[in-house]
Amino acid sequence: MCGIFGYFGPKKNATEIVIDGLKKLEYRGYDSWGVAYKTKDDIKIHRQIGKIGEAHLVVEDVEDIEESIAIGHSRWATHGGVTQANAHPHTTENREIVLAHNGIIENYLELKEVLVQKGHIFTSETDSEVLAHLIEEEMKNDNFLSATKKALHQVEGRYAALVISKKENKIIASRRGSPLIIGIGEDGERFIASDIPAFLKHTKKVQYLDDNELVVIDAQATTFYNLETDEKVEKRIIEIEWTEESAEKGDFKHFMLKEIMEQKETLYRAINQDAGLIEQVADAIKNAFGTYLIGCGTAGKVCMTAEYMFSSIAKKHVNTAFGSEFPNYHHFLTNKSLVIAVSQSGETADTLEALEIAKAKGAKIISIVNVETSTMARMSDIVIPIKAGPEKAVASTKATTSQLAILMLVAYAAADRLYEGKEILVSAAGQINDMLNPRYEEHIQQLAEKIQHAESMYIIGRASNYPMALESAIKLQEVSYIHAEGFAGGELKHGPIALISQGTPCIVLVGADETRKAILSNAMEIRARGGYIIGVSPQKEEVFDYWIRVPDCETASPIVNIIPVQILAYQLALLRKNDPDMPRNLAKSVTVK
Ligand code: G6P
Repeated sequence: MCGIFGYFGPKKNATEIVIDGLKKLEYRGYDSWGVAYKTKDDIKIHRQIGKIGEAHLVVEDVEDIEESIAIGHSRWATHGGVTQANAHPHTTENREIVLAHNGIIENYLELKEVLVQKGHIFTSETDSEVLAHLIEEEMKNDNFLSATKKALHQVEGRYAALVISKKENKIIASRRGSPLIIGIGEDGERFIASDIPAFLKHTKKVQYLDDNELVVIDAQATTFYNLETDEKVEKRIIEIEWTEESAEKGDFKHFMLKEIMEQKETLYRAINQDAGLIEQVADAIKNAFGTYLIGCGTAGKVCMTAEYMFSSIAKKHVNTAFGSEFPNYHHFLTNKSLVIAVSQSGETADTLEALEIAKAKGAKIISIVNVETSTMARMSDIVIPIKAGPEKAVASTKATTSQLAILMLVAYAAADRLYEGKEILVSAAGQINDMLNPRYEEHIQQLAEKIQHAESMYIIGRASNYPMALESAIKLQEVSYIHAEGFAGGELKHGPIALISQGTPCIVLVGADETRKAILSNAMEIRARGGYIIGVSPQKEEVFDYWIRVPDCETASPIVNIIPVQILAYQLALLRKNDPDMPRNLAKSVTVK
């Protein structure tokens, strides 16, 4: 969480470039923001709470500087409330250095105690400020670079940090567990950010910083060091494929709607994978002694759905766990285990930690990610890219259906029926293309108007549609802020049915399989208690008060069923005057545990 952005180069409008970059990183956190820029002999800092919006800064004293240097930060609060004092960049009482940090410094209290004894004065409640003081303390005996290296050796936890000094014209950056990518522009320009779309309009040439590495960006070079060995590291420049347009809203009012509509084509991209890669993953599952699918949030629900798919399609049991819970399974891991991480960003801290644990036990690691060059991808033995293009809205939509499609292909491949699986998915993609039209949106809009004032909503499903009921609840919670919960249809009578009262909206995800009759009976049970039944189903059923039609896509039913709920969640967000792209309290990429 938190987005960081730095600029080094000849352009005088470094601050403007940084603010523009931060706007593209806001999905990572939007509680507060700030920038710091170098003047000839000082560093100016501007910080404020709230979203960055249309911010412009009046920049002073940069006319006679040789290189423009600026860093910025968009915050998702962890340590310390949403206040101006806690906003980044942070500095010290002497203002020798200024720092923007993403991650959590776990031993900050111990470090702070020592620094306070040495006379340092803290002005924020953040863990990050400790690092600024620590570097400055080391600078009493060392130059900027050595001091930063020494300070970083003392911190525990995860970080991506950008540091600038009043005395030297350079940006020093380092990472451990949080992403940081360098963009190489024209005329010596360098950008450094938490994610590529932030500088995509300037360059597509990137260099990746790996964990426990540090980079010095100055007028002479971009120099990488391994922090453990202190040796220099050579880095390749990689040209990335994403276009600037793919990371922009275009004609859409919100990223969420754009990304929902992009499912017209993203599914095709996911399906048209290298068949060899899919077979390779299927073989790894067949040969493993225990396969674990892990993910967080929506990706976790994708894993749960895949568990049903592997069971029914490949007659194969796979285990699933949320990233944060996976460490509790480490007792079962051996070097014959297989761990498959599912993640849009490839940077989620809980999933990364799970992979680290699995790796330490010698397990094989596979990742199914959208960001092909992410930390997860780079630590995996095999990577399947889902190829959905940048996903910016906090609520995941297109990445979800692409991940589901890929795992479904793997399940078919594990059953030696890859071709059949592909046919079902190609047909589903075609029908989704037809489904996503303005009339369909209007039909869902009418429903949203009817239920916009509901206090609670419930969603039920069975088999592979049960985890999609859980995912539906996440979508509705995230952007509409209506209390929503998903249940397995059969579990209703064991408790949740007590929650149903006159008019409670209940979404019923009807599977295109043998579970149809049973879920319709569950819908009847709800209706008999006054519930308002919204059926998501290929055919109209007696029990529905409101019917949202979806195509009959056989085993791909969870993929088509979730799409109308995504649209409903979006419409409800608009009607309830919420920002669907940046919902309260959330962030797109959760890089803290
Ligand atoms: C956050 C996002 C969710 C996402 C989850 C996992 O909580 O708000 O939309 O599903 O992280 O993210 P990942 O990038 O690992 O898929």
